[in-house]
Amino acid sequence: MHRENTHALQTRRLSHAFGIEIEGLDLREAQSDATIAEVRRLWNENGIVLLRGQQITPGHLIAFSRRFGELDLHETLKAFRHPDHPELFVLSTIPVEGKPSVSENVGRHWHSDMSYTLCPPLGSIFHAQILPDVGGDTMFCSTQAAYDALSPKMKQVIEGLEAVHNYMDVENMKRRDPALVAQLREANPPIAQPLVRTHAETGKKCLYLSEQMTRRIVGMHEKESAPLMRMLFEHCVDPLYTYRHKWAKNDIIMWDNRSTMHLALADFDAGAHRYCMRTTILGKPSGYVWKGQ
Ligand code: SIN
Repeated sequence: MHRENTHALQTRRLSHAFGIEIEGLDLREAQSDATIAEVRRLWNENGIVLLRGQQITPGHLIAFSRRFGELDLHETLKAFRHPDHPELFVLSTIPVEGKPSVSENVGRHWHSDMSYTLCPPLGSIFHAQILPDVGGDTMFCSTQAAYDALSPKMKQVIEGLEAVHNYMDVENMKRRDPALVAQLREANPPIAQPLVRTHAETGKKCLYLSEQMTRRIVGMHEKESAPLMRMLFEHCVDPLYTYRHKWAKNDIIMWDNRSTMHLALADFDAGAHRYCMRTTILGKPSGYVWKGQ
């Protein structure tokens, strides 16, 4: 097993393409500015950071997350917020008062969190609290590694294009309560975003798209856009650029929403309980409301 020391932090690579585990951090303790700067450097360089064994409260998760930027209060996704902490987005399969949890199917497609907003998050910090006996894994892919692997000609073709991110195109919207769907539609119009974005901290180029929300390139017909978007999406999720995380209780993964996508797998028994929460750290303003064509 390859291990190295960076300052006081011991690290271990998670996969060939990206991802790193940092050992020895306890998020119940105050972290120095130097430690946070080093975590940020490792996060930027590796796309995802794993921290194991974090027996923390919501307050610890929020306080640690704030060290990396302003937190989203999930105003456009109110139904999924923690009742006492708007900074926390709850991912739960546990029924509430006999009714299915509103977030039981969230994230069942490859995406970068909230790419359909005008201030897409730079990253998310996810804490696994209750897990099924088997499964409930999350997959990640590096859209930076995928971009790097494109041919020079394809990079030229897609440079300057914009893709429309429409949250309402997510397939599981059809299975959601119509009142919730109407609320989500009102709060989340289609947003055009650059298809290739330059990471604000590393300066590296990354593809910016999703499996279900980006069917359209601005200025192209859907039948022209769809094959190109499908090809780029399939390229991103080539196993070469992916990592599958099998969660253990109290794992944290910090994922960079600018250079990775993720997918919450439904690979567990119906009725099994999975309860996790995440913060969402705001990035730089990007994109505009797409009115058609
Ligand atoms: C998400 O934030 O997209 C959900 C990830 C997960 O539940 O594994």
